[in-house]
Amino acid sequence: MEFTRLQQHEMVDFKQFEAILTEEKMRVSDLIEQYGYHIYIAKEQAKWIGYLVVHQLDQGIWDLIHITIKPEFQKRGAASQLLTAFYTSERVDVMTLEVDEANTNARNFYHKHGFSIVSRRKNYYGTRDGILMMKETKYILAIETSCDETAAAVVRSDFKILSNIIHTQVIHEQYGGVVPEIASREHVEKLPHIIEEAMKQASLKYRDLDYIAVTTGPGLAGSLMIGVEAAKTLAWQLDIPIIPINHMAGHIYANYDEGALQFPLLAVTVSGGHTEIVEVSDKDEFKIHSQTHDDAVGEVYDKVARVLGLGYPGGPKVANLAKTGNVVYDFPIAKVREDEMGMSFSGLKTAVINFVHNQKQKAEPINEADIAASFQHAIVRTLVEKVELCLQQKKYRQIVLAGGVSANTEIRRAIEEIANKYEMIFSVPKMELCTDNAAMIGLAACVALAQNKVQKAEQIRIEPSVTLG
Ligand code: KG4
Ligand code: ZN
Repeated sequence: MEFTRLQQHEMVDFKQFEAILTEEKMRVSDLIEQYGYHIYIAKEQAKWIGYLVVHQLDQGIWDLIHITIKPEFQKRGAASQLLTAFYTSERVDVMTLEVDEANTNARNFYHKHGFSIVSRRKNYYGTRDGILMMKETKYILAIETSCDETAAAVVRSDFKILSNIIHTQVIHEQYGGVVPEIASREHVEKLPHIIEEAMKQASLKYRDLDYIAVTTGPGLAGSLMIGVEAAKTLAWQLDIPIIPINHMAGHIYANYDEGALQFPLLAVTVSGGHTEIVEVSDKDEFKIHSQTHDDAVGEVYDKVARVLGLGYPGGPKVANLAKTGNVVYDFPIAKVREDEMGMSFSGLKTAVINFVHNQKQKAEPINEADIAASFQHAIVRTLVEKVELCLQQKKYRQIVLAGGVSANTEIRRAIEEIANKYEMIFSVPKMELCTDNAAMIGLAACVALAQNKVQKAEQIRIEPSVTLG
């Protein structure tokens, strides 16, 4: 669907269009100049399919007069798209509207879009009351410093990302892994600039902010502390509350950038520190069904990269190399004793490392690409097997991939295939929202906000080893 503001020269067309769609004597097109209404047109393949009329009361403050959709396009989400398109193209802090109390369809529609009832007008529609609904948009500054990315983002409470700034600390590359001390120092140095930039790109002033969201765990204690202290300082200064966020929940809810999620959903979270298959409810509740007993998938990718001499972070490098190789080695996939749902990757890691060392000792040539492909195949098989076990136990409406490793195209492909097989919706965030970032923390904060999980700055503590659920 395309969405444009009505231009002056299109007024004649609009009058005709309106005449087809409404029988009311009072035409919006006659009131435009008198009231300063704005009209937005929805088009599909250049044909007009509906329109939205608003009255701007002040900067960022709008009254929604109505949304009209051609009958053949109704019940196909066109009204939703039109409203969302308006929110995306204009700054909307507050929107009000009025509906006939008997019009339950309209009431449900606006309720679904985050509007709530604020008052009634007695007998406004003859014998029926008029219901005044309102939606206030909140602005959230999100901060993420759990590991080696210094990140800040501004996200609107209706899941729209306004800015997303990430500084990746490349300094760790020379050490072959993250050095906690150095990570903290880099966060201290970079975070203020990153926050400034996030605010600038969102075109907001600090006093426009309603909440500060911050990662409180899991992660490196020293690194988490820097983000949390910055969040507290800002919260105190602006006199606004904090929304504490679990980093893994952030990875999962990054999928909100792709559209609304369908619950219950199954999240496959694979990162440098975590590998879990998690059930997520519409109440922001988590239940871990399967997890690694030792190394995380990302960590194993990084170790394999090191033994193959590819550098850090190794995940993308191993994945790239695997593209040119064949699955020729049968690396073992360990079973976890007495836990059918458990995963284990340290055996696989050791097998690959030993194989490379043995070949080198024997001075035999090694085909790195084949090793990478065979290793990746073992990882994918493990994940697929456990996800299928979960799906056999319970029905889910959606499956999402989350965490840094979900940038991996083979893993994406495999999980999407299962989703198709079980007729579930599949989603995975854009590449830049897969690896650590603050926009995902902001999106998770939108969910937490709807559940009222808001705290005073002095209540916030870091939780370096917190788990989901
Ligand atoms: O979620 P993340 O950015 O940080 C943690 O919270 O751990 O994940 C980083 C991990 C690293 O281990 C990195 O090697 C891995 O994700 N990774 C990948 C790919 N891109 C990043 N692993 C496999 N294939 C990739 N394409
Ligand atoms: Zn992460």
